Amino acid sequence: MAQANLSGESQPCAKLFGRAFYESIGSPKMIVAPMVDRSEFAWRLLTRSFLNEERSKSLLAYTPMFHARLFGQTPRVRDDYFKPTKESLTSKKKSIATPWMDGNPKIDRPLFVQFCANKPEELLEAAEYVAPYCDAVDLNLGCPQGIARAGHYGAFLQEDWASIYKMINKLHNELSVPVTAKMRILETPEKTLDYAKMILSAGASILTVHGRRREQKGHNTGVADWSMIRYLRDNLPPETVLFANGNILNSGDVEACLAATGADGIMSAEGNLSDPTIFAQPPEQHNPREYWYDTDGKGGYRVDAVFRRYIDIIYTYSLEKAAPERPPLYIPGDSTEHLEGKKISSDENQSVNNKKRKRGDDKKSKLDPSLKAMQGHLFQLLRPLISTHTDIRDTLARTRCGDMDGFERVLAMVEEAVRNALDQVAEPVASKESLPESETVSEQEMTPKQKTEAIYKRPWWVCQPYIRPLPEEAIKSGALKISRKEATKITMNEVTETESDPIQRSDELDGQSTPSHNTSNETPKAALVCG
Ligand SMILES: Cc1cc2nc3c(=O)[nH]c(=O)nc-3n(C[C@H](O)[C@H](O)[C@H](O)COP(=O)(O)O)c2cc1C
Repeated sequence: MAQANLSGESQPCAKLFGRAFYESIGSPKMIVAPMVDRSEFAWRLLTRSFLNEERSKSLLAYTPMFHARLFGQTPRVRDDYFKPTKESLTSKKKSIATPWMDGNPKIDRPLFVQFCANKPEELLEAAEYVAPYCDAVDLNLGCPQGIARAGHYGAFLQEDWASIYKMINKLHNELSVPVTAKMRILETPEKTLDYAKMILSAGASILTVHGRRREQKGHNTGVADWSMIRYLRDNLPPETVLFANGNILNSGDVEACLAATGADGIMSAEGNLSDPTIFAQPPEQHNPREYWYDTDGKGGYRVDAVFRRYIDIIYTYSLEKAAPERPPLYIPGDSTEHLEGKKISSDENQSVNNKKRKRGDDKKSKLDPSLKAMQGHLFQLLRPLISTHTDIRDTLARTRCGDMDGFERVLAMVEEAVRNALDQVAEPVASKESLPESETVSEQEMTPKQKTEAIYKRPWWVCQPYIRPLPEEAIKSGALKISRKEATKITMNEVTETESDPIQRSDELDGQSTPSHNTSNETPKAALVCG
C-alpha cells in the first residue's frame, strides 16, 4: 500500500486491518463472488458498468480462484489468468507499465484476488505477485469439489485448522495487503463460530460466510442458512467484518439479507451470473431500450442490452478493437427499414453453422480468460430465452473461443427475438401465444420452485435468476439419485427450511440450456462451483 508524499514520490504506508481496512476501500455492501471461469475481468466490468458513480463505490469484486502453487511457480499461468499490465507478470514489484485489465485502479477496484492453497510459503509466493494490483488476497476455504478433496484445499481444510491458521497468519504478517477468507458453515452454530474465531485470530481482515455446508452442492445445494450467519454476527466482536453469501437471487434480496444476517456486505455468485445488473437500480433516465418497465413492478434490464454491453467490453479490452457500429436497441414504433434483408433465417444460420467451425484466429483469443468464459456466460444470461428459442441455443452452442462472428450472429438472433416479442406485447390484439403465461395453480398447490418463480420470474427478454428445484424436488423428479436414507434426511431438512423461506438457488448450468452435443466449453467443469 502506498500514498504519494508532497514531492509526488510513492511512500509505503501502514497496512490497515479489519474494519479500518474495510472502510478504506469504501465499506462495500455488494460483492461479486469469486467464480472460476466466470468472475474474470470482463464480467466484473460489465457488473460495475450498470452502477452509477456513487453506487459503484459500494461494489467489491473477487477474481476467480487461482491455484497458488501453479500461479506462483509458473509464469505462463500468471499470464493466462491475471493481466494487470500488458507485460508478463515476472516481478513482485509494482510495474511502471500502464495499467491494463485486472486491478486497473480506474475500472477494476476494489478487487480481491482469491487463491486456493495448503502451504503458507506457496500462498505467500503467489500472493506477492498480485498484491501490487489488488486490495486484498483471499483464501478459499469453501471449494467442495472432488478436485479440492484430492488437492487438499478449499472446504477440505475444514479438518486441518493448523494449516489454515499458518497460511492466513503468514500473509497477515508478511504480505503488503490484507488477507481475507471465504468459508462454508459447519454442522452446528457452535462449531462454525469456533472455526470463524480461529480464522479471524490468524489475521483475516474480512470473513465471507457461505451459508451452506460442504456437502451442499449440485442438486443437493438447497437453501443457504442465513440464521447461521446471524449467529456469527451476534457472537463475534462487533468490529469483525462479515460478508454473507448464498440465496441472493435478485436485487430485492440484498437488503433482506443484510437485515437478516447483520452482515456488512452480501456476496452474489449465481444471481450475478444470471443477472449482471443484480446490484443496479433502474436507469436514472427512462430508457426502454435497455430496461423493461413492467406495470406490476417486475421490470428489469433487457437481455439484448446486457449482451451488447458485454460483447462491446470484450472488443474493447480483450481484443483491443472498436466494437461494430450498432443502431439503437429496438422499441416498438422504431423503423425497421435498416433491418430489411438482414433477417437471419434458421436455414442460413444452419448452413453457416455447418461450415467448418471458425476458431479464433488470433493467439490472444486462446489466452484471454474473458474470451474463454464468453459462451458459458451467455448460456447463463440467456437461459430463459434459449429455453424457448432453441435455434439460438444451438447457434450459441456452436460458437468457439474468440469466434466473434459467431457471437455477433447470436446477438443478432437475440435482438430479433426480443424485437418480435416487444412488438407482440405492444399489439393489444395480436397473437401472444409465445409470451409467458402466468401460473394458474393456486398458491397452496404450488411446489416450492413455483412459489419462488412467482416472486422472481420475468419475461424471457429480461434478466432474471434461475430457480433450481430444491433437493427434495430433484429427488422426486429423478434428477438427484441418492440412498433412501439420505433422501429422507434431505427431504426432512428441506421441508422444514422452505416452509418459512421459499428462496432457492441455482448452482451449475443445467442440461436443458446446454445441449449434450456441445463443446467442452459450456459443460460445467468439476472445478466450477468452488465455494
Ligand atoms: C460458476 C461458479 C464458480 C465458482 N467459483 C468459485 C471460486 O472460484 N471460489 C469460491 O470461493 N467460490 C466459488 N464459487 C462459489 C460462489 O462463490 C458462492 O460461494 C456460491 O455459489 C454461493 O453463492 P450464490 O448462492 O450467490 O450462488 C463458484 C460458484 C459458481 C456458480
